Amino acid sequence: MFAPAVAVAGLVKRYGEVEALRGIDLTVQPGERFALLGPNGAGKTTLFSILATLRTPTAGTARVLGRDVVTERDAVRRAMGIVFQEPAIEQRLSGRDNLLLMGLLYGLPSAAARKRADEILGSLGLAEAAGRPAKNLSGGQRRKLELARALVTDPQILFLDEATLGLDVDARRGFWTHVRTLAAAGRTVFFTTHYMEEAEVADRIALIDAGRIVALDTPRALKARLGGGVIRLQTDDDALARTWLAERGWAAEAGGTELMLVHADPAAVLPELLRHLPVKVRRAEVHEPSLDDVFLKLTGRGFASEGAAAPAGGGRGGPNGRGRP
Ligand SMILES: Nc1ncnc2c1ncn2[C@@H]1O[C@H](COP(=O)(O)OP(=O)(O)O)[C@@H](O)[C@H]1O
Ligand SMILES: [Mg+2]
Repeated sequence: MFAPAVAVAGLVKRYGEVEALRGIDLTVQPGERFALLGPNGAGKTTLFSILATLRTPTAGTARVLGRDVVTERDAVRRAMGIVFQEPAIEQRLSGRDNLLLMGLLYGLPSAAARKRADEILGSLGLAEAAGRPAKNLSGGQRRKLELARALVTDPQILFLDEATLGLDVDARRGFWTHVRTLAAAGRTVFFTTHYMEEAEVADRIALIDAGRIVALDTPRALKARLGGGVIRLQTDDDALARTWLAERGWAAEAGGTELMLVHADPAAVLPELLRHLPVKVRRAEVHEPSLDDVFLKLTGRGFASEGAAAPAGGGRGGPNGRGRP
């Protein structure tokens, strides 16, 4: 039978004193769209780097399409493509030359590399831009060029580590349209993102916190775990509100600048809650559970970093990283 696209067992990575991965077990099936979600510092890039053979595990094993990332490094490299948040393209070279260079690095004959480069540039809508130095392209075009570069070797599996960070909504949509096409053609896409609506398209999601997977399921099942709808509150005194709620049997999580409560019928209880709470409520909102709510419930912390204001609409569908540290 087919080997799993990714098979990770007991994976540990230490950087000196820092234990970035604390025993990760994970299997991704061929053709799956799989998302890794978690706050900054959770260990996501470390895991991607190990899978991409750029770092070695401290303990445990990782296989990509059946190949061991340590002992079969070259085979893994040929089988996968990766897009990191940091640019890998050569800014002074044209888009086409970037792809040719990549093809030659991977041992394609130059005629084949040229043909492949033109095919990919065409399919990503970059044909016209490809003659210009990469540094003169728009942010969205440059990100697509990163994706194009990762596709030169025709990889069966794509790793995308916050590949769309900082792009505007249109550019992100364009990028994901292409990724969806690749996934529909049977490739495995293993990705991490700061944008909640991108994670929603995943077949399964692993929530990762401080080097451990805290939950792994379909987006729908993860949200169903909360067992109700969500109330988010901004108050003048969250600590007092939390104590008062706890005395009445309500477990409220403190997610940065907001309190989060789960209830089977949140809209029905909210008015009474507002009447009786002994603190001033500046904002109250009821919504269907988001992945951020699930993470907050499981870990007591949101993906969001502290301090920055939440965008309108409580951040649903927007960047969950409300300003990076
Ligand atoms: N090269 C490194 N040396 C030391 N610590 C590192 C290094 N790379 C990452 N770390 C630490 O490992 C942890 C996980 O980092 P990372 O994998 O980049 O997380 P994420 O991608 O989820 O933000 C963090 O505490 C980070 O500071
Ligand atoms: Mg990272």
